[in-house]
Amino acid sequence: MARVLVVDDEEGLRDTMAQFLARDGHVCLTAESVEAALVALAGDPVDVVVTDIVMPGRSGMDLLQEMNALSLRCQVIVVTGEPTVETASDAVRAGAFDYVPKPVSRARLTQVVAAAVRLKKSEDENDNYRENLERLVESRTGSLNASVERLKRTLENTTQALSAAVEIRDLYTAGHQRRVARLAGAIHQKLGRGADEGAGLRIAGLLHDFGKLAIPAEILAKPSRLSAIEFALIQQHPITAWEILKGLDFDWPVAEIVRQHHERLDGSGYPDQLKGDDIRFEARILAVADTVEAMASHRPYRPALGLDVALEEISRGRGTRFEAEVVDACLELFRDDGMELADD
Ligand SMILES: [Fe+2]
Repeated sequence: MARVLVVDDEEGLRDTMAQFLARDGHVCLTAESVEAALVALAGDPVDVVVTDIVMPGRSGMDLLQEMNALSLRCQVIVVTGEPTVETASDAVRAGAFDYVPKPVSRARLTQVVAAAVRLKKSEDENDNYRENLERLVESRTGSLNASVERLKRTLENTTQALSAAVEIRDLYTAGHQRRVARLAGAIHQKLGRGADEGAGLRIAGLLHDFGKLAIPAEILAKPSRLSAIEFALIQQHPITAWEILKGLDFDWPVAEIVRQHHERLDGSGYPDQLKGDDIRFEARILAVADTVEAMASHRPYRPALGLDVALEEISRGRGTRFEAEVVDACLELFRDDGMELADD
């Protein structure tokens, strides 16, 4: 069963065709011209249009073109008095489904319309299937994106909370980790390295002194020089942090970067006395950012040394203790780009 529009200027033929099709159970609309057909097509959807080609005024071929322009999704069958190969092929080229020669036989008409209806129905089913699939993919993608966003927020909040924990304990490093993370991120960006590596570096920066939680507060806040034992305890903090962070399933080697942030290129750092390429690049950036921030800021055992002294220190270690290109990027940030040490 389908909705069929019959377009013919000859009233007799129009009604005959409509009766043939109605007997097959189709709902038939009729129109005596292209204009009237377009009005009918603007109403409820039609599955098949059966149109005469030669009519006073605009022809069946014009109707076909109008329908194409409007992207109407229905099959068109042309009825032609001169069933030549050219007429048929012209009609099919213009998008018609098939043609019916005049005089119109009931058998040919119902057979061609039935085939057009089958094609239209299967196209509709395909469209519905595709639309459903698109809706499904869209809703799944939407909820997946929402989950990823939620996870990212959770990770960010957790990192901030862990970062804040050590700062509550150790007032003097309050803000230190955030400023180091920010500076390390800026150096990383200046070097034009990948955004994914930058994301891991930022988290490592925010947590790099996390291991200080295990150091007695009196030692952290001690206003005088540390004894050898106290200094050895302080030197444990990258390992303590690594022990805790290695159990967390980050997408980046956060625990390793944190463990290596006091390593120096020439092997003079701690805790593993790593050298050169054995130190992760992120850790080489963190080492420079940490040194600059720590020296430029106030410490329990000394007042702030200032940014100039901090930059001199990394320049002195350029290529020996500190990675040369990282030092250069850091100097450029402060000297040419107007960078300032600040929290996020
Ligand atoms: Fe540290």
